[in-house]
Amino acid sequence: MKKASISVDTRNVISDIDSRIYGSFIEHLGRAVYGGIYQPGSPLSDSDGFRRDVIELVKKLGVPIVRYPGGNFVSGYNWEDGVGPKDKRPVRLDLAWFTTETNEFGMQEFASWLEKAGSEMMMAVNLGTRGPDEARNLLEYANFPGGTYWSDLRRSHGKEKPYGIRTWCLGNEMDGPWQMGHKTAYEYARTVTETAKLMKWIDPSIELVACGSSNFHMPTFGEWEHTVLSEAYEHIDYISMHEYYANPADDTPSFLAENIGMDRFIKAVVSICDMVKAEKKSSRNINISFDEWNVWFHSKENDEKIEHWGRAPHRLEDVYTFEDALLVGGLLITLLKNSDRVKIACLAQLVNVIAPIMTNDEKAWAQTIYYPFMQASMYGRGTAIRTITECGTYDSRKYSDVPFIDSVAVRNDEKNELTLFVLNRGLDDDITVNLDFHDSVKGIEHISMSGYGLKETNTASSSPVVPHAKALGSGPVVLDKASWNVLRYSLI
Ligand code: AHR
Repeated sequence: MKKASISVDTRNVISDIDSRIYGSFIEHLGRAVYGGIYQPGSPLSDSDGFRRDVIELVKKLGVPIVRYPGGNFVSGYNWEDGVGPKDKRPVRLDLAWFTTETNEFGMQEFASWLEKAGSEMMMAVNLGTRGPDEARNLLEYANFPGGTYWSDLRRSHGKEKPYGIRTWCLGNEMDGPWQMGHKTAYEYARTVTETAKLMKWIDPSIELVACGSSNFHMPTFGEWEHTVLSEAYEHIDYISMHEYYANPADDTPSFLAENIGMDRFIKAVVSICDMVKAEKKSSRNINISFDEWNVWFHSKENDEKIEHWGRAPHRLEDVYTFEDALLVGGLLITLLKNSDRVKIACLAQLVNVIAPIMTNDEKAWAQTIYYPFMQASMYGRGTAIRTITECGTYDSRKYSDVPFIDSVAVRNDEKNELTLFVLNRGLDDDITVNLDFHDSVKGIEHISMSGYGLKETNTASSSPVVPHAKALGSGPVVLDKASWNVLRYSLI
């Protein structure tokens, strides 16, 4: 059996973890809203039309913040269409996904849903077809106490107290030619600056996320970030990152190493933030909001066949495999390893659309990727600790010198617990890992996902891919080949 070692010293602190790193995303896209979180008339829904089974699964996931209402959708959205009496709301064409949007569900309903799901709103403003004026009106509607046109309109809609939304996205993927109102870096940088100024004048307590590149491979990557940051540095708090991972050529060794690509991307964006910081002689950091990340490729062929202008079609309904769950575990390890600069991250998305939770008219169920996310959200709160791992490496078609094992630890002082998240990327061998702790620890349990076929899935009719827990001592641990592991210890 292969051997490796992980050494953990809780003084080796990366950062306090911002719980918003376990955020997610609901867009008006496919069946995320309609038929996902909202299905009036269904026996599975409550009196507000919210699917109770979905709320239960979302609560177990422990998602502290949910980005809304898009995504590409927000770049053509009139937020006013989604508030006030439902019978007055207009039906419109959505040019992001070529569907018909009824607006039966808007921010009012989303805020009520979040209350039930125990989460907070991360609101995006439309900087595609609209601009600073609509953004400031929306903020006044959402966060101003009363006595003005927009805040009183909110009160007339039955919401006396402000929503108090603290995290706001300034548009979405504005570097992408597919985006409604696509801009050059400089055009966007100017719009961001002017929008941010007005928004912070109304409510200085809010935090603002400016759009970074839509992915690492955009031709304008780097120059885009530099231009936006150079212009808007003093007005914003975060720059966004988006990236989706895929395994279309069935190259699992490369696929399971994609979190190395995520790490390089994060380091590159942090470098640009810090370069602009130095150029401006600023003492303030701009941090990262990795507000779209996941695996996305299974549904692409099917989505090309969808006819235009339908309502809530089955779009982006990726059915996730066991190997997708392994990579999602790896991506979470990378987010935690970079938690000194990644303060917000959103698994895209939450229900039905490239999502951990799926629904049909009869039930809701957890996809394979649900479990590593739930475990990280549950046990990965507190302080991220850097581990030192010694193990063998492999070369894949895309990455060389890939360590078989990737790991990070989290210390939770409230519970006096230490948790290690460990991925074994090796497809052929189990690995015995010698654990060397600086602190005294006592094993609680070893939760793992292993032993499944790489392409095994969970569906409405059967959900075989689930985690298993077994007792954990303080000595060496065997990590099965191709496995995601959560090693839980009490600190004594
Ligand atoms: O999450 C799906 C889409 O991916 C979002 O609408 C967009 O921002 C990204 O391209």
